[in-house]
Amino acid sequence: MEEKLYVGNFMEKKYRIVTYGCQMNVHESEKIAGLLRGMGYTETKEDAEADIVVFNTCCIRENAENHAFGNIGALKKLKRRKPGILIAVGGCMTQEAGKAEVLKEKFPFIDIIFGTLNLEKLPELIERRLKEKKKVVEIREKEGEIVEGEEPFRTSYPNAWVNIMYGCNNFCSYCIVPYVRGRERSRKPEHILSEVKKLVAEGYKEITLLGQNVDSYGSDGSTGMTFAQLLDAVASVEGKFRLRFMTSHPKDFGKDVIDVMEKHRKICRLVHLPVQSGSDRILRAMNRRYTGEKYLSEVEMLKSRFPEAEVTTDIIVGFPGETEEDYLATEALVKKADFASAFTFVYSPRTGTKAAEMEDRVPPEVQKDRIMRLVALVNSLTRKKSERYVGRTAVILCEDYDEKKKMYMGRDEFGRMGYFRSERSRIGEFVTLKITVANGISLFGEPVGEEE
Ligand code: 5AD
Ligand code: SF4
Repeated sequence: MEEKLYVGNFMEKKYRIVTYGCQMNVHESEKIAGLLRGMGYTETKEDAEADIVVFNTCCIRENAENHAFGNIGALKKLKRRKPGILIAVGGCMTQEAGKAEVLKEKFPFIDIIFGTLNLEKLPELIERRLKEKKKVVEIREKEGEIVEGEEPFRTSYPNAWVNIMYGCNNFCSYCIVPYVRGRERSRKPEHILSEVKKLVAEGYKEITLLGQNVDSYGSDGSTGMTFAQLLDAVASVEGKFRLRFMTSHPKDFGKDVIDVMEKHRKICRLVHLPVQSGSDRILRAMNRRYTGEKYLSEVEMLKSRFPEAEVTTDIIVGFPGETEEDYLATEALVKKADFASAFTFVYSPRTGTKAAEMEDRVPPEVQKDRIMRLVALVNSLTRKKSERYVGRTAVILCEDYDEKKKMYMGRDEFGRMGYFRSERSRIGEFVTLKITVANGISLFGEPVGEEE
């Protein structure tokens, strides 16, 4: 009976979205929020208050999946107490072969299962679930046309994320993304540019162009533009804002993008360039299509053009067949590249990928030992760089207030976090800080002015 009231009337209903995984997913949760708000829902951070809980899942490593499984399972009691609540599961995990079945079996109380390739259908699926009163499972197997015109509900002012492309064609042997996100497809430049212009007009101060492999933008000839040309066009949008892009691939990253960076001071001198390994043998087994030497030559090219430039990276340890010598090659590369920071991962086999079939698995205790050594190395590099900031100034874009520290925080061009005290909110402003203390990766300072 009660459920009837829900149909077509969501104005008093509340949603909660739980997000796992990467920035792509964080932005997709903003799109899901936009769709739900379009129906009339408003947000709550409490499961118990929610009328719909949406899990936006990730499947890149096993622990991301386990995490989601744990949290979905924890809602069983709530669903029993409040049967009208809708539980929806979307995101990359649902796109994995056979996973929707596993989810249905493991958690019979899930109401809606939807994929990343048909995210925009969520409102329709909600209506259908309420009308038909039975579980709705709708996963699109193949990518379709890009759907434009949906307004995301952005939650990270003054930062905004803009997709430039979806999917991936690279098939790195460890990675499940090409299987769950489909083939590469690029948004049209005019859609991207009008989104960026609107964001700048609304006062957003940092725009990050997002794609699994931004260098492949338009490589199918569908956009009439390369990534470097798109970057040039976006950086030419008038207004004061910072521009970032993520993620670059070392097999494609190069001079054309660096030339555009040089042309526009708006583009941050920070490139996220995942290296994955420093061993050529392992890079080959990973199907990365570059060598350690080529990687380092790109870092060198960037740093010789902009002496202040920084590089961040992703590294996997314990890939099948990785010997101590291979691991030490990674350490050597990390030192040479002098990364500003790095995301470090233990290899996690993903069903359906080539690497999952490889036999020479590295024992978990060896993986653990390597990740600990690598994390210590990366932290020492990051710390040394932070210490060099003390006594200097850094321009940060203030993005939040840290309740615990009672300080405002923001990031500089190189992604480093800076904290400071202020009587009034500085969120959305570029603030120049004189750095007094560096504590691990965080910097603390005094505002000495606002950058014009
Ligand atoms: N195991 C461990 N790490 C992985 N990544 C991708 N797939 C795996 C996997 N199977 C890491 C890569 C990638 C980042 C987003 O996640 O380093 O760049
Ligand atoms: Fe992002 Fe990849 Fe995880 Fe999907 S599987 S959420 S694309 S990191």
